[in-house]
Amino acid sequence: MTRQLHQPDLYPLTSKYDAAWLLDLDMGPNPLWLLEDLARGLALQPGMRVLDLGSGRGATSVFLAREFGVEVVAADLWVDPAQASTLFAEAGVAGRVEAVRAEAHALPFEPAAFDAIVSIDAYEYFGTADSYLAYITRFLKPGGRLGIATPAMRQEVRDLGEIPAHIRACVGWEAAAWHTAEWWRFHWAITGLVSVTSARLQETGWADWLRWTRAGHTPDRDRVIAMLEADRGDLLSFALVTAVK
Ligand SMILES: C[S@@+](CC[C@H](N)C(=O)[O-])C[C@H]1O[C@@H](n2cnc3c(N)ncnc32)[C@H](O)[C@@H]1O
Repeated sequence: MTRQLHQPDLYPLTSKYDAAWLLDLDMGPNPLWLLEDLARGLALQPGMRVLDLGSGRGATSVFLAREFGVEVVAADLWVDPAQASTLFAEAGVAGRVEAVRAEAHALPFEPAAFDAIVSIDAYEYFGTADSYLAYITRFLKPGGRLGIATPAMRQEVRDLGEIPAHIRACVGWEAAAWHTAEWWRFHWAITGLVSVTSARLQETGWADWLRWTRAGHTPDRDRVIAMLEADRGDLLSFALVTAVK
């Protein structure tokens, strides 16, 4: 099954990683494919200090340290930092990635502590409130970059009038936080706090999500596959949104 996860033409950096290792760390679909695509718009340079917000079990933090030579703070609410630290040591990045338990609205950092903040498949849990961009950008240096990859729709739920049944059956009300790329562009741009450098729906997003889920073994696997197959790519994908402060 994991052979199907080898996509070197689309994701050359990720294709160096063991797919079985990634699937064992799985908390959501294809985090490294999302991050590799997102990072094309983040201008990461060696030595930069990067916050990986909602870092989960830590695959994305390992990737950031190894592929871009950045110093990473891996901040997450549900995952024990001791468990993440073990992973970072095993992956040979212990000196460059620090794991912290943190709630996204009460972050234990100084203002302007980071050159970049990335959030992969996590921002939808805490970042849709009007006030959140002002909060999170406090932790960016002037000129710093914010980049998120988040489940997204081709049409707003508000315009559809309801959460479509095949999506509701899988994730319930949580899909209310799944927006279009244009929604994110406006939501950030209107604040004047950042310049949005890119807000796009990932063209491969639905197919990648299905390919990844079919190869995996998470408890919700069958429900997610049913949602994606019913969707046929008509609505569901991921939005990749980047901005500079
Ligand atoms: C779907 S998982 C994705 C994890 C990882 N980024 C990945 O792609 O594998 C979502 C993550 O968001 C984190 N999260 C959710 N709500 C949070 C909050 N309020 N503050 C910090 N992290 C949060 C969870 O702890 C979880 O690890």
